Amino acid sequence: MGRTGDVTDRLARLAQSWDEAAEGYETYFVPRFAPWVRAAVDELDDVPEGPVLVPCCGTFPELALLAPRWPGRRIAGIDLSAGMVRLARLRAAGNPLVEVVQGNAMTLDPAWSAAAVVSVFGLQQLPDPATAIRSWYDVLRPGGRLCVVYWPGTIEDTGPFALLDKVIDAGRDNSWEDDLIPALDGAVIERDVHLSFPMTHPGAAEYFDAANHAGPMRALALARGDDYIAELRAKYLAEAPDGEWTHHPRARLISVRKQLSRAAGAPPTS
Ligand SMILES: C[S@@+](CC[C@H](N)C(=O)[O-])C[C@H]1O[C@@H](n2cnc3c(N)ncnc32)[C@H](O)[C@@H]1O
Repeated sequence: MGRTGDVTDRLARLAQSWDEAAEGYETYFVPRFAPWVRAAVDELDDVPEGPVLVPCCGTFPELALLAPRWPGRRIAGIDLSAGMVRLARLRAAGNPLVEVVQGNAMTLDPAWSAAAVVSVFGLQQLPDPATAIRSWYDVLRPGGRLCVVYWPGTIEDTGPFALLDKVIDAGRDNSWEDDLIPALDGAVIERDVHLSFPMTHPGAAEYFDAANHAGPMRALALARGDDYIAELRAKYLAEAPDGEWTHHPRARLISVRKQLSRAAGAPPTS
């Protein structure tokens, strides 16, 4: 099979994994990820007229903060997974200015001419994050804002996420993270920080099962099968502490502004 076939298969598996995870993701992860969603939306001050786009919106928790902040503005979420899109549309129901598009958000059509783009915890899943972040920047109109929050290669030194990485031992190449700021050549970088908030899980088994059935591990489970996951679970629980587990994962937030064009930014001459 050629590279196009591989990419199509990978996308289809990713979409299926999020279809299966959607309901559980909304219940387990959306409340735990809420502080990062709020931090991302809070970056979008002082934006020009125009639509707000949310690539990789999942069940669209961003909408609950965006809609009251900008009543009367068009807001669009884009997500690969039909299961996620279904829940996002439920969240958007009754607001005629909100649309949820099912599709690949790797590259966005510049015709959107967006006032703002905000994306939380999607970028690290894309096949080419630097190209994606550039495309998300390119859809902005002058003065527009882009804020992206993603999970970096190192999220924590110890804790439930670090232990999962350790037992999976995928040996991921995280060099793409160094390409993000260079990809935003020409942008005004407002903030590039790592943000940490406390997160609590009822226990190691509950977290592992949520990651498997309702989170990013679903794609791995589909690829490797139940026996592999059962083995992984046993290894995970053997090393995990007992009882409630609180940790402080760090996500990277990149917030940029597109400069006003010289014509738009120039003071009136008369
Ligand atoms: C961890 S969820 C994040 C959802 C939401 N932004 C939040 O903060 O809760 C990641 C989402 O990215 C979506 N996704 C992954 N790759 C995508 C792609 N190429 N195009 C569009 N969506 C994608 C998945 O379907 C999933 O819903």
